[in-house]
Amino acid sequence: MTNKYMYFIANWKMFGNLKTLNSINKVISFTKKNKKNKFKLVYCPPASLLFPLSKKLQATSIDIGGQNCHESQNFGANTGYINSKMLKDVGAKYVILGHSENRQLGESDKLINSKIQSSIKSGLKVIFCIGETLKQKKKKITKRVLFSQISKGLKKIRNKKNIIIAYEPVWSIGSGMIPREYELFEIIKYIKNKVRGVKVLYGGSVNSKSIKNLKKINNVDGFLIGGASQVSKNFIDIIKKTYN
Ligand code: PGA
Repeated sequence: MTNKYMYFIANWKMFGNLKTLNSINKVISFTKKNKKNKFKLVYCPPASLLFPLSKKLQATSIDIGGQNCHESQNFGANTGYINSKMLKDVGAKYVILGHSENRQLGESDKLINSKIQSSIKSGLKVIFCIGETLKQKKKKITKRVLFSQISKGLKKIRNKKNIIIAYEPVWSIGSGMIPREYELFEIIKYIKNKVRGVKVLYGGSVNSKSIKNLKKINNVDGFLIGGASQVSKNFIDIIKKTYN
């Protein structure tokens, strides 16, 4: 899988502060030295760090994204929220939507669909997360669950060119467990059949060890990386190992 254009998306979740941003210098110099491999790096820090990170990454090829947003494009009396236009205003090009951690807090497919529509209108690229729970996997209804999440989440969205799907099995996030190679290949194939032309990333316990197996899956277009993306050395290791 040496020449493929791959996405490496860092999902920092609720981690990091101004001091942590210095550690990204290593990643910046790595990207400057590694122009031969074509990849896209995107940092999705907590909202408090979007603006300083956007300034820091101005002269680099690394982009930034939000971790979620409100469904309305307008300003409003919504304490604690930011919308897709506000993300765009501070330099974000991407937004993660439908993450299982937010679904678990009660986000419905319908709400996620509204968020996707508003983000696309605002000119963001959407990293749309889908995935089954362990219970659903055991019941062997993974494809049915994914189909439902895709058809409801992408309802009324005709042009899918700004949609990237991240397949993140809920049981794999932060657990150290990853799907078997043939299972993952099959699921990515299934998603690509349902949504023609879409890029599909894998997320869930991607780290410098698991990447050795994950990179063998030749229909995957990149990775959404949580824990391991917070330490620059680990993040760089994942990228290096993908191409070696
Ligand atoms: P993880 O998280 O890499 O820590 O498993 C991935 C995610 O939740 O996006």
